[in-house]
Amino acid sequence: MIGAKPRRILITGGNAGLGLALAKKLARRHSLLLSGRKSQNEIAGTLPLGAGYVVADQNDPEESALALVRGIRDFGWDSLDNAVLNAGIGIAAVDGVDSTEAIRQTLDVNLLAAVMQAQALFPLLKKSSGTLTLVGSVAHKGSATIPAYAASKAGLHGLARALRSEWSGQVSVQVLHPGPAKTGIHDKAGYDPGRMRALFLAADDVAAMMASAIAARRSPVTLSWVKYLNGGAYTGRRL
Ligand SMILES: NC(=O)c1ccc[n+]([C@@H]2O[C@H](COP(=O)([O-])OP(=O)(O)OC[C@H]3O[C@@H](n4cnc5c(N)ncnc54)[C@H](OP(=O)(O)O)[C@@H]3O)[C@@H](O)[C@H]2O)c1
Repeated sequence: MIGAKPRRILITGGNAGLGLALAKKLARRHSLLLSGRKSQNEIAGTLPLGAGYVVADQNDPEESALALVRGIRDFGWDSLDNAVLNAGIGIAAVDGVDSTEAIRQTLDVNLLAAVMQAQALFPLLKKSSGTLTLVGSVAHKGSATIPAYAASKAGLHGLARALRSEWSGQVSVQVLHPGPAKTGIHDKAGYDPGRMRALFLAADDVAAMMASAIAARRSPVTLSWVKYLNGGAYTGRRL
């Protein structure tokens, strides 16, 4: 590997969508451990060569944090340079109303798991003065059709602000807010964006903007069309 020192990078939700696109970008230069809900068998052949994989189901936030810590230890790492807490879901409301179960699941997977994981990973990140990256959404400012999802992302925004101050001088903390991207999340949510899908950014381009934002350690960063049209996927710092 030429250039910057290889990093130890954990990416949750690294087996699909934006997390996988980011992992593919970084795999040649860095050492990667990816996590997801699916089993090893279900994701066989999809991960970049050399990347490790750990099952950490965020429907159980506490257990997911423990699973990550075990997975990191079993992978032979005693520190982390980057933790990208990217795993997330959306659940489309039925007749404009989120069910109690959908609200709980959204908050568990998107927010509570990230809070638990951040706390559990802190000592490992601290060892290498690393960076914690939370993946939010432009929806954190509010979105009428997906209120529980929007609330979970607003929670991540607040969490980043709080940890950035609490961990100052020990671990960098940032939140990235992607705009709509072409991944499977909308279909899984039961939401059909229709013709709007054509306006969504390619997962690869969002991942490129994520990588440079992670390298720059700034927060918060919005990763949308405006940034893309300003060359965001092709310029900026290299991770
Ligand atoms: N795509 C967009 O338009 C968009 C816009 C703004 C923000 N975001 C955010 O970007 C992040 C990635 O989204 P994406 O578009 O890449 O979605 P995606 O293609 O659906 O991928 C989601 C990832 O999260 C993992 N995940 C879902 N539920 C999980 C659970 N219970 N436990 C552990 N892992 C779980 C999935 O793993 P399994 O496959 O194993 O379930 C998968 O790896 C999310 O936080 C999302 O909210 C996306």
